[in-house]
Amino acid sequence: MRIHHIGYLVKKIEKARAAFVKLGYEIETEIVYDDIRKADICFLKKDGYRVELVSPVSDDSVVANLIRQYRNAPYHLCYASDSFEQDCASLESGGYVRMGEDCPAPAMGGKKVAFFFSSAIGIVEVAEEA
Ligand code: NI
Repeated sequence: MRIHHIGYLVKKIEKARAAFVKLGYEIETEIVYDDIRKADICFLKKDGYRVELVSPVSDDSVVANLIRQYRNAPYHLCYASDSFEQDCASLESGGYVRMGEDCPAPAMGGKKVAFFFSSAIGIVEVAEEA
């Protein structure tokens, strides 16, 4: 698996995007509303690194609790996988706990993604590289 992006929780996505642009990031995608996660999401790039901004839109968003805990902060790394099912199974057998059902990510062109939790390193995302 290869690192695909760093997921960053933010309270105000437009302000956050402007702050990253000031640091020299380029806007990779416009802000997309993900109605499964009830969050606004966009991607920025710099020096080959990709940052995903995730901002909960309502209190029942899957990230609403996380943002109360972390505030504005990075909270996951996402890995792109050419062998999605195999890599997910390998993480699970290595002690990672799958969080919820796999579901498509509208902000990533509908790619299939899965989230895992490790008590040692927190949240990890795996995205199917089609
Ligand atoms: Ni992500």
